[in-house]
Amino acid sequence: MQEALLNQGVRSAVRTEQEAAPCSKNAMRSLCIVSGKGGTGKSMISASLAFLLSEQGNTLLFDADLGVANAHILQGIRPTHTIAEVISGSASVANVVTPCYKGLDLLAGGSGVAQLASLNAGELELLAASLRSVEDRYCHMVVDSAAGLSRQTVAFAAASDRVLVVTTPAVTALTDAYAFLKVLLTRRPHCRPRLIINRVVVPEEGLRAAERLIDVTKRFLGVELQCIAQLPDDRAAFIATQEQRPVVRGGSNGPLEQALRELAVTVAKDLNRARPRGFGNSLHKQLIA
Ligand SMILES: Nc1ncnc2c1ncn2[C@@H]1O[C@H](COP(=O)(O)OP(=O)(O)OP(=O)(O)O)[C@@H](O)[C@H]1O
Ligand SMILES: [Mg+2]
Repeated sequence: MQEALLNQGVRSAVRTEQEAAPCSKNAMRSLCIVSGKGGTGKSMISASLAFLLSEQGNTLLFDADLGVANAHILQGIRPTHTIAEVISGSASVANVVTPCYKGLDLLAGGSGVAQLASLNAGELELLAASLRSVEDRYCHMVVDSAAGLSRQTVAFAAASDRVLVVTTPAVTALTDAYAFLKVLLTRRPHCRPRLIINRVVVPEEGLRAAERLIDVTKRFLGVELQCIAQLPDDRAAFIATQEQRPVVRGGSNGPLEQALRELAVTVAKDLNRARPRGFGNSLHKQLIA
């Protein structure tokens, strides 16, 4: 039943190795989408940002919600290889990525593999080394995180060149976003995360939520958060999920699609300003710190 459901809309891989256009001058920049609370829209945003960034240069979407991965569903593909093979040492990242669209590859997480949700230091080291070996193939990497504050989720965020914190205006989501920021900034004090308020119904509520989080982060963590987008609550997200595609592949140009396109422009500029630290190396440093 599940297989049949997922098969609807599944496409075959459309990119070949020959079509790949690796960045020659720029090293890969990494962008990690986090939230604290589950269900805030990390995967929805990651799917569209990865797709739009891939129009500018080869992009790797890393489904870091390991164990309950579903980023592949939002790209309409069914990977035959997953990160589980990298963690077990039987394959490298280069061998397990799945092409989604021209310029976009997915490093799929493994579904239903509980062990992947809590990797040990040795397994994370293996992953870091394997990721390092593919970085020259990509301009961008988008990390779609798991909810929560697990060691590996925080390490992925701390290793990334940019971190986007996603929350809804709900006080529970704001509280969990703050908790994530606290842990992240303790680990990497110079990190300057960007904020996205998602599922905004009333713009004033979105603004108030942003102000609230910006205020407490400044007062208690000493860091000025920058809110870079308010994304509307839009049924387009549900429809895109059902059709197994990124929202921005809808072509309706509705409010959410427009807001995501504006967000991608902002993010691309911001990423270009970031000093690429090398995700694999940074992850390695996180592990030995
Ligand atoms: N702007 C939006 N408008 C309407 N629905 C949305 C919006 N953003 C996300 N959703 C819906 O919210 C649900 C959760 O979204 P998504 O899976 O992207 O969240 P997540 O943060 O990745 O969750 P998890 O923590 O479980 O990984 C989905 O059903 C998605 O379609
Ligand atoms: Mg998700």
